[in-house]
Amino acid sequence: MCKIVEKREIAPRTKFLKVFAPEIAKKAQPGQFVILRVDERGERFPLTLADWNKEDGTITLVFLEVGVSTRKLGELGKNEVILDILGPLGNPTEVRNYGVVCVVGGGVGIAAAYPIARALKEAGNKVVSIIGARTAELLIFEEEMMRFSDEFYVSTDDGTKGYKGFVSDVLKVLIQKGHRFDLIYAVGPAVMMRAVAEVTRPFKVKTVVSLNPIMVDAMGMCGACRVTVGGKMRFACVDGPEFDAHDVDFGELIRRQMAFLSEEKMALECWEANKRTKEA
Ligand code: NAD
Ligand code: FES
Repeated sequence: MCKIVEKREIAPRTKFLKVFAPEIAKKAQPGQFVILRVDERGERFPLTLADWNKEDGTITLVFLEVGVSTRKLGELGKNEVILDILGPLGNPTEVRNYGVVCVVGGGVGIAAAYPIARALKEAGNKVVSIIGARTAELLIFEEEMMRFSDEFYVSTDDGTKGYKGFVSDVLKVLIQKGHRFDLIYAVGPAVMMRAVAEVTRPFKVKTVVSLNPIMVDAMGMCGACRVTVGGKMRFACVDGPEFDAHDVDFGELIRRQMAFLSEEKMALECWEANKRTKEA
């Protein structure tokens, strides 16, 4: 059981939790994730680590409340406990001095991009960050990302802050203006990561994405996180979560992410109805 020591809403439906999990904090590295179960009837779901502190033994989780599990997690308050958190899982980001690195974060994925940008900066890279959200109030981790960026760009889909458009549009403009990148790193919705891959493909810039398929065991046994990379079947939980973006079959990833949408919608409706009954 892991106790929540800090809880904040950092954007609408976006929660920031600091959780006491010293064994995970001790070993955590950029790019890794945890699998959680909120309570004994809960499903297992992955969250990428947004931060950790070896000294006070905490890890930071940032998530958008979308389905039953993230809604339940978002309802827990300070000093309440999460039933179990397994991690750190997945292969860490390959952090080294590449030269000029562009880190692209979309939506709640910005929080997952943050420790990667920080580690790449600390490894001596010049870090150019592009972060984007649908609208200004959904932008998160701006100050954190700015702190570890040599150049920093913001976009919103509706133009309420920064460049009006997608993060991939900003990246395209920078490349067309002559920016030269040795590595591009993208975290966010699969459609965004696909768009980034298509921007960089003609320029042959190495592009790494952190995939977010459905996961169950996170041990490489259940097959839930199966993705096709370079024509080969890979399991994101043990072979990833990071892969070469130009080799990923994003169409399949997006189809598999949506496989249980109607069941997820029904589960949420039942959970909300039960909650209303209990509250009445
Ligand atoms: P969102 O749908 O609000 O999109 C965020 C940003 O991504 C947009 O502002 C835009 O800049 C870009 N984007 C969206 N659609 C695009 C498109 N078609 N083409 C180009 N760019 C596009 O994101 P959200 O609702 O905050 O959801 C965040 C997503 O990030 C979730 O799907 C979550 O699973 C994922 N995520 C992934 C990881 C990971 O490790 N890969 C970690 C955390 C979150
Ligand atoms: Fe089961 Fe990856 S989550 S194989």
